[in-house]
Amino acid sequence: MKTNIIYNDDCIKILNSKIDEKSIDLIFADPPYNLSGNGLKWKGNKTGGDWYMVDEAWDKMTAPEFLKFTRQWIGACDKVLKDKGSIYIACSYHNIGESMMVLKQLGYKINNIITWYKTNAMPNMTKRIFTHSTEFVIWAVKDSGWAFNYETLKEINPEKQKNGDLKQMRDFWQMPLVQGKERIRGSDGKALHPTQKPEEMLKRIILASSNKGDIVLDPFSGSGTTAYIAKKYERQWIGIEKDKNYIKISTTRLR
Ligand SMILES: C[S@@+](CC[C@H](N)C(=O)[O-])C[C@H]1O[C@@H](n2cnc3c(N)ncnc32)[C@H](O)[C@@H]1O
Repeated sequence: MKTNIIYNDDCIKILNSKIDEKSIDLIFADPPYNLSGNGLKWKGNKTGGDWYMVDEAWDKMTAPEFLKFTRQWIGACDKVLKDKGSIYIACSYHNIGESMMVLKQLGYKINNIITWYKTNAMPNMTKRIFTHSTEFVIWAVKDSGWAFNYETLKEINPEKQKNGDLKQMRDFWQMPLVQGKERIRGSDGKALHPTQKPEEMLKRIILASSNKGDIVLDPFSGSGTTAYIAKKYERQWIGIEKDKNYIKISTTRLR
């Protein structure tokens, strides 16, 4: 089986054909949230500049199609994950239900639901509900004996105890949506991927649930954040992404 590669294809197809069964130590998946299609935008927003709701063809399904898709991709991940492996799934309140249901049906144990508090959350456009400022990452395992590098997580935790001592990493992570130098942009200044995840998030997940040399797989690789951080921390990596343009961004990033 090849590692240190990003496949340009559908993840269900690649997981079923190119990845060995029970070969993967850690899966991080940031699937479509099925949020596109309402065309929300706010031009001239004074605090953060023009803002557009994600609106991508890969992110538009009917509710039954989305549940079927969730079953298919998590099922395909289940086949390739080692018994002692971990799967992390990024989600929001919109799609946490489908992932949780499928994981439970497959017999997974939920270790944590990490709350990502987005310190620079998107504006409240309708002003009819509380401003959304969180996403979640589900951490699920198949079997006991999963990897968890508790001490490493304490060492990298930016929060310290009152006396300056190291502090346990909690399941509540405060970090901004990717901006500044970390955001990959084209020559026109526009973000090249609409949902690039923070490197700090992948750093915590990869350092927590894998060790040097382990294989980390991301079935919805996007701009290649998982592969980039896995490589940085000396893990083997496999990405799968169906959009050619995003493969180009990842290749440049990895180089
Ligand atoms: C939410 S984004 C992932 C972003 C990524 N975490 C990052 O940091 O850039 C989901 C990605 O999955 C890709 N995608 C959607 N459906 C797919 C499928 N069936 N197989 C492979 N990739 C898919 C989309 O093109 C998109 O880039």
